[in-house]
Amino acid sequence: MSQFIQESELSVRVIEGEAVIVNRAMNAVHRLNAVGAEVFFALQQPHTRSSLFEALSESVDFSDVDADEARADVDAFVDDLLDRRLIRPAAQDPLPPAPIRLKLWKRDLNAIGAALGAPIAAHIEVSTRCHLDCVHCYIPGAERRPKRDAERKPDMTNDELRALLDQLEALGCFVITFTGGEIFIRPGMMELLEYASGRGFILELFTSGTPLTPDKAARLANLNLARVQISLYSHDHTTHDDVTQVRGSWMRSVAAAKELVARGIFVEFACTLMRSNIADVVELRQFADSLGVALKYGDPISSRTDGNADTHDLRPTPEQRAEAVRKIPDFFSIPEPKDPDEPLCPAGHNMCAIAANGDLLPCNLFHLPLGNVREQPLAELWANSPALQRLRRARMRDVKPSPLGALPRYIDFCPGLNLLEEGDYLVPAKVVAETTLMVERELSAMASEAGRTT
Ligand SMILES: C[S@@+](CC[C@H](N)C(=O)[O-])C[C@H]1O[C@@H](n2cnc3c(N)ncnc32)[C@H](O)[C@@H]1O
Ligand code: SF4
Repeated sequence: MSQFIQESELSVRVIEGEAVIVNRAMNAVHRLNAVGAEVFFALQQPHTRSSLFEALSESVDFSDVDADEARADVDAFVDDLLDRRLIRPAAQDPLPPAPIRLKLWKRDLNAIGAALGAPIAAHIEVSTRCHLDCVHCYIPGAERRPKRDAERKPDMTNDELRALLDQLEALGCFVITFTGGEIFIRPGMMELLEYASGRGFILELFTSGTPLTPDKAARLANLNLARVQISLYSHDHTTHDDVTQVRGSWMRSVAAAKELVARGIFVEFACTLMRSNIADVVELRQFADSLGVALKYGDPISSRTDGNADTHDLRPTPEQRAEAVRKIPDFFSIPEPKDPDEPLCPAGHNMCAIAANGDLLPCNLFHLPLGNVREQPLAELWANSPALQRLRRARMRDVKPSPLGALPRYIDFCPGLNLLEEGDYLVPAKVVAETTLMVERELSAMASEAGRTT
């Protein structure tokens, strides 16, 4: 009689009694109800169909079903688990690890997180420190490069971060985005990543890549890594280094990207659009393509997190932006108006962020204080924070007019940016309204030009 056992490349969380499972080898998500979860967990040990039924009889009450019918149900469920590749015949080799493609299953996981009220994704800012000095950085200079440590709130320790990961796991979190500051200048970072990966988290890393060595890249290749996002502001090294204000940073970021790509890791360049680099959007895309790296533009530049709006001067001019819309129209697509009953965004519903000092936030750019994980258990804050409960009740119908009046839709409507720039997460940021109007104008002009030429 053949035995069956759980597959190995699985990340499993128990949320509200249900098992939510990411099959990393198959890039698929599964949700099992409480009874299904019992069967699945019993198969942590090898079982034949009949030994499985005996084992389940001790924990599941089959008294109201005919015994043959119950056996047939368990058999059918075993077949279902085999089809889904969540279990395998014990004599068969486990599925080999495969590249994690978050895009294929993130939407399914988000929906499960929203339905179960679990923070399935979290950003962790491991430090505000950074050795670069980007002109636009939202982290205020005194926190990035403090003259004295007393000037900044201390970062969480490695023990605190490990305990935080344990709490996130218990709440049903799967995807952790580690960000900074610069994550790779934090002592113990590699060990922390290895710990997180060992707990079944799927990892995304935001970094300049400059401190990465071949040795670290080799260690990263062994983790459940979905994406390494490296900030690169131009294909041209001078333009990039003028942003980071550190000569040679472009060379090091590009070398890191190549090293990671060579090891089969998914790398994405992140390029915040600025006055100084917006002319390079097409060349940067070609450069990224040539390296086998994805590319994501970031827009708009926000104020710094202390409210300082000096970064606004770095934003592209309206004329520059209009030119960029013509060069990369797919990046500026106009969303459908949101349903009035929709929540504002996923922040605080199925995702959260933890700042370097332990502050819990709905998202890493949404500085709405919800409490501090150094002072209160995360689960308590997630369930009971009054500010979080208010945010969860907010719907699109509650959105107030932007400083430019009410618009039917906004490109990149972001409650975090609203709070930072307008002091109220329900008031759309002026820059978002301006961009929306300008992009609509430009795209409709392009459409009528295309109509005239056909
Ligand atoms: C704060 S950095 C942290 C990770 C890493 N140090 C890096 O630069 O990639 C994360 C991302 O935020 C972007 N960013 C920084 N300041 C910004 C701002 N004021 N507005 C919009 N994006 C910003 C950066 O360009 C980077 O892509
Ligand atoms: S590398 Fe990242 S954290 Fe450092 S200054 Fe630049 S944007 Fe800020």
